[in-house]
Amino acid sequence: MHSLLVTLTLGLTLLLLRILTRTASTRYNLPPGPQGGFILGMRRLLPSVEPWKTYARWSQVYGDPVMSFRVYNRHIVVLNSAEAISDLLETKAEIYSDRPMSWMYNVICDRGRAIFNISSSNPRHKQYRKTLQSGLGLRATREYLPLIQQESLRLALGLIQSPEQLVTHVQRNSAAVIMKVAFGYTITDDDPFIKVADEASRISGWATQPGRWLVDHHPIIRFFPSWLPGMGWKRQGLAWRARLRYLAEVPHQWLQEKMASGTHTDCFTSRLLSPDDGNIYSALYAGAGDTTVSAIISFVLLMALHPEVQDDVDLNQISRLPYLNAIMKEVLRFAPVGNMALPHRVTEEDVYRGYRIPKDASIIANVWAVLHDPSIYPEPFTFSPERFMPSSPSNSERSTPQPDSKQWSFGFGKRACPGKRISGLLLTWLTYHTFDHPGIHFAETTMLFAMFNILLRCKISLPSGATKPVEVEFTTGITSHIKLFPIVVEPIKTT
Ligand code: HEM
Repeated sequence: MHSLLVTLTLGLTLLLLRILTRTASTRYNLPPGPQGGFILGMRRLLPSVEPWKTYARWSQVYGDPVMSFRVYNRHIVVLNSAEAISDLLETKAEIYSDRPMSWMYNVICDRGRAIFNISSSNPRHKQYRKTLQSGLGLRATREYLPLIQQESLRLALGLIQSPEQLVTHVQRNSAAVIMKVAFGYTITDDDPFIKVADEASRISGWATQPGRWLVDHHPIIRFFPSWLPGMGWKRQGLAWRARLRYLAEVPHQWLQEKMASGTHTDCFTSRLLSPDDGNIYSALYAGAGDTTVSAIISFVLLMALHPEVQDDVDLNQISRLPYLNAIMKEVLRFAPVGNMALPHRVTEEDVYRGYRIPKDASIIANVWAVLHDPSIYPEPFTFSPERFMPSSPSNSERSTPQPDSKQWSFGFGKRACPGKRISGLLLTWLTYHTFDHPGIHFAETTMLFAMFNILLRCKISLPSGATKPVEVEFTTGITSHIKLFPIVVEPIKTT
């Protein structure tokens, strides 16, 4: 009798608490933002070009760095300030580190365990990150240095031979490093594995396009049979599912055969994983592929526009080497690779600065807005590596360098780009331990080596008579690129 009473009282208290919390949460408004239509929300009104700029503008129009809107039944919250990004995605990472559910990709295409999309509550996510962090860690990256150096040199020489093939050279560089690291595989010209990886990336990009698939917003329709009229999307999704499964198999089968015959090269996959796990390799390729490519292409194009920067970076003088690091920070700031990182999902209802952040809302960090915030980076549209150097002319008003752009370039909380805590291998290597530089990423090591070799051997400029583009233009996508323009690359005679 007594225990029944206790259970009843407890049950009633819990119910009351739940009602009270719900009432409390509805007392708060959503962050301000455009309303859109009753059913579609902002579906048809979203900017198709450089949305990060529109979001930054909307946040000014609505008077708050935190803004929101709805697409179908999904709330999107955009964080347009460094403070909001840090308060939510870092400080409250426990509840802000999931990914928005992609029914098309995760369920129809059966890629729910892919690293980029896997739920942070799935124990495999933790395991993946641990694996990636040790596989891309300090010791592992040190082992890759000769390979990274060799490929960077090849990139610089390729640029001198055929600068018009800038993209091909840079893509080759990135693929060669990552395929070797992941599989111990040496790529060839016109490589079949590169085609496999590229096709998988392309399909994944289509299947995860935000707002494109109705099933992402009304998941109930996934149960409708694929032969019904109007279900073409499901037939497409199922075809992609089969293709993605096949594509993930190809390199693994190759490695398994090599391992069975004892002819494989020691590599990430053979060392750390059961070779039948296709998720890590595709994450390495997808993660490293277009990101480092975008950053290195931006670097080359920006050098063509800024010959004075090339003159300033004397690579034979150890005291000028921090300047190379400043150039990298400025490339990542001026031309962010991921202007909006990747979307996160909040797993519990939250209240922030008096606004209600509903459970399951997609959270977008507007990295572009932070990296172009004039209160953090004065004259944000000017390319100036000096801003990251102590006591330089453009830094005269500030006694310290401007904040390191890398803290926003590589994402946040439990989804931040893995391997971020690797130390400054290239700089340490180049300067014979003359100065210390913590916090360099595997990607940064690749970037710094490429930049070093290119600057050491190439003089990059615009074709004679070409007018300097007034404004650098960017492509729109998960990763953004500077739109190409012709450049000239001349060899520097090294003594
Ligand atoms: C300049 C180069 C790179 C940039 C700017 C970059 C940036 C990013 C960003 C913004 C994210 C999303 C973080 C978030 O959701 O908050 C991310 C995730 C990720 N990156 Fe990178 N990345 C780069 C290179 C690499 C490389 C070289 C690898 C692997 C070798 C890699 C592997 C990954 C993986 C696996 C994830 C998914 C993490 C997860 O969802 O848990 N990235 N990266």
